[in-house]
Amino acid sequence: MSPNRSETLSWHGGSDGHLRLIDQTKLPVNLVTIDCRDVETIWEAIKMLRVRGAPAIGIAAAYGVCIGLQKPVDSVAALRQQLSDVTDYLATSRPTAVNLFWALDRMKRRAGTLPAASSVQQFRDALLAEAEQIHAEDRHVCHAIGHHGAQLLQPGTGVLTHCNAGGLATSEYGTALSVFFTAQDQGKPLHVWVDETRPLLQGARLTAWELMQRGIEATLICDNMAAQVMREGKIQAVITGADRVAANGDAANKIGTYSVAVLAKAHRIPFYIAAPISTFDLSIDSGDAIPIEQRDSREITHGFGRQTAPDGAVVYNPAFDVTPAELIEAIITERGVVRPVNRDTIANMIGNDEHVMR
Ligand code: MRU
Repeated sequence: MSPNRSETLSWHGGSDGHLRLIDQTKLPVNLVTIDCRDVETIWEAIKMLRVRGAPAIGIAAAYGVCIGLQKPVDSVAALRQQLSDVTDYLATSRPTAVNLFWALDRMKRRAGTLPAASSVQQFRDALLAEAEQIHAEDRHVCHAIGHHGAQLLQPGTGVLTHCNAGGLATSEYGTALSVFFTAQDQGKPLHVWVDETRPLLQGARLTAWELMQRGIEATLICDNMAAQVMREGKIQAVITGADRVAANGDAANKIGTYSVAVLAKAHRIPFYIAAPISTFDLSIDSGDAIPIEQRDSREITHGFGRQTAPDGAVVYNPAFDVTPAELIEAIITERGVVRPVNRDTIANMIGNDEHVMR
């Protein structure tokens, strides 16, 4: 079951249909949806974090491709050109979460397998089926991550999470939050400490909201309080999501995750990443090569409608950081737990998966 009354994303209609998204920028005060009927609206929704979180971005992009193929054409050759144009365009929306590129790549590959004699309608239908498949697979993947992750936690554990890796960031159940939801379903109570996650407050606005909807005990803290709470002995594990995991296990996630991992190490607390196989990028040797999104300085100086820094203040606003593999106790995937985290254990877990970026 979804932690939200509305689905994070839903497709309405056939190949001429549209995508409905929860506008996450309006949460937690307003739960409103937007209907996306053109590719520009989807691009803007991804860019502005109306839809966000690595898996959800990938699913939105896959449906975005279907919308991009709706323009009238008189041949499959013209449709293939549209496919190339729309995938190139959507790929420019955000750089760090590999699920975006993974999903676009999957849509192109599906198109590549279609018989040359396919009609325009068959082509559109096949690509919509692929987007729906990506969406449906994510549901199973998130539940499997929850199942594997819940086995790592004892009843009564205090767990810290950063950003939002919940139902809002995926099809419905989340990655890191799926572990908490599953533990609760198994009758294993946890206490979740929620980093507010400056500057865009995904922890405060989205994670706290999701946990409260599910009746999970949660306490919100400012990001700079985590060390103190660890020192007080209230946190026994940290679990976050990821946006891209390199071949050696270095993992990019929301800015501030790396600091949490360093703090966890200093307090001898295990730091786990929960991420689907679609978040691994074997084409990238180490975290040094993961592209880090830089965002508008106004997110820091004028967040949520109020100026909080002097005019002209120089700002640096990287949206993600990279946690080195040696700080990660294990990566929880839908196929099981990767531990220790290194090139070999990752390669073994992924095997010859045809869809993984490599
Ligand atoms: O900028 P955002 O809100 O898209 O960042 C999201 C995160 O960093 C999540 O932790 C990550 O995408 C994993 S979501 C299952």
